[in-house]
Amino acid sequence: MAGTIRRIAVNTGGGDAPGLNAVIRAVVLAALRRGWEVVGIRKGYQGLLDMKDGLVALNADMVSGITHLGGTILGANNRGNPFQLPDGAGNVQDASRYLVERFHDEGFDALVAIGGDGSLAIARDLHERYKLPVIGVPKTIDNDLDCTEYTFGFDTAVATATEALEKLHSTAKSHDRVMVVELMGRYAGWIALHAGIAGDAHVILLPEIPFDLEAVCRTILERDRVGQQYSLVVVAEGAQPQGGTPIFKDPGGGGRQARLGGIAQRVAHAIAQATGKETRELVLGHLQRGGPPTAFDRLLSVRLGAAAVRLIEMGEFGCMVALQSDRIHSVPLAEATRRLRRIPLDSDTLQTARDLGICLGEG
Ligand code: F6P
Repeated sequence: MAGTIRRIAVNTGGGDAPGLNAVIRAVVLAALRRGWEVVGIRKGYQGLLDMKDGLVALNADMVSGITHLGGTILGANNRGNPFQLPDGAGNVQDASRYLVERFHDEGFDALVAIGGDGSLAIARDLHERYKLPVIGVPKTIDNDLDCTEYTFGFDTAVATATEALEKLHSTAKSHDRVMVVELMGRYAGWIALHAGIAGDAHVILLPEIPFDLEAVCRTILERDRVGQQYSLVVVAEGAQPQGGTPIFKDPGGGGRQARLGGIAQRVAHAIAQATGKETRELVLGHLQRGGPPTAFDRLLSVRLGAAAVRLIEMGEFGCMVALQSDRIHSVPLAEATRRLRRIPLDSDTLQTARDLGICLGEG
C-alpha cells in the first residue's frame, strides 16, 4: 500500500489525442472519491517548470461534461522534455532536478502522466532517476506503444480516416482518378492498415513493408483493364520505397521532434508518370487527431484513468496501465517504452488485406 495520499497531479504530454479529457475526468472523479486533491499541470511539464498559472486545481465541476471533447483541457506541448529543455537561445538544458523539486514543493504524492512514447520515456526516467511516484497512461493515435493492445485515440483516428476514404471514393470514381491519401502513424502503419481496409483502399503502403512502386502501378493498371478506372492508395506517412528512406518535413533536433511528411506527393507523382493516369494526393493530417473520441476510445480512456488511480492507491509506481485481453493491467514503464509496437509481419490483419486483393506494395 502507498503512504498516505493527499494530493496528486495529472498532465498530458506530447500531441493531443481524442480521449485525453475522458482520462482526466476519470482520474479526477476516482481521486476525489478517495478524498484526494487533484491538480492539473498545464502544457505537459511546462506548467510546473516556468509557466505563470501553470497549475490548476481540478474539481468535479471542472471535469463535468468533457468526456466527449477532443483536445485536452490542460493544453499540449511537444517541446516539454525536462531532460532537454530548449532555453530560447537554441541550447537545451537538463531541468529534471528542478522539476522534481517543484513537484515535492507543491506537495504532490503522485503523478498521472498521460502520454505517448516520448512522454512515457520521460516518466520512466523521472521514476528511475529520482523515484518520482508516477503512473503512465498510454495515449497516441499511432497505436505504437508496446505492452498494450490499444492506445486511446487510435480508434477515433481510424474512424476519421475511414470516413475520409469513403468520401474520396466518389470523387476518384467519378473522375477515373487515382487518389493517394497520406495518413499519420509515424513509424507504425496501424492507422493506414486499419483505415485502408475499413475504407476499401486498393493499395496500402506501410512503414513495415518497404514498397515496390512497380507492384503498385501494376495493381492500378490491372484495375483499369477490368473496368475499374479509379484507385484509392493509402500511404502511411512513415512508408518508404524499397531501398529508400522515410521523408521528413522537419528532421528535428534542438528539442524538436522530427516530423514525417511528403510521401503521398512523391508516390502520386511517380504513379502519374508511370501509368499516365490523372492522380491527386491528399494529406489528412491533424484531422485525424481532432474531434470527439469514439465510444470505444471514451470507454478505454475512462478505464485507464480509473485504473491509474487504483495503482496510486496500491503504491505501485513506475508503471503504465495497459489493455490486455480486455482487462487493464499494469506493466513497468521500462518495459512499455523499450521498443515501438509496429505491425508484426505475420499479423492476420495484413493477411486479411492480401486475401481481399489489396496491394501492400510487395514486389
Ligand atoms: O504521434 C502522433 C502524431 O500525430 C503522429 O502521427 C504525427 O507524425 C505527429 O504526431 C505530428 O506531430 P505534430 O502535431 O507535431 O505535427
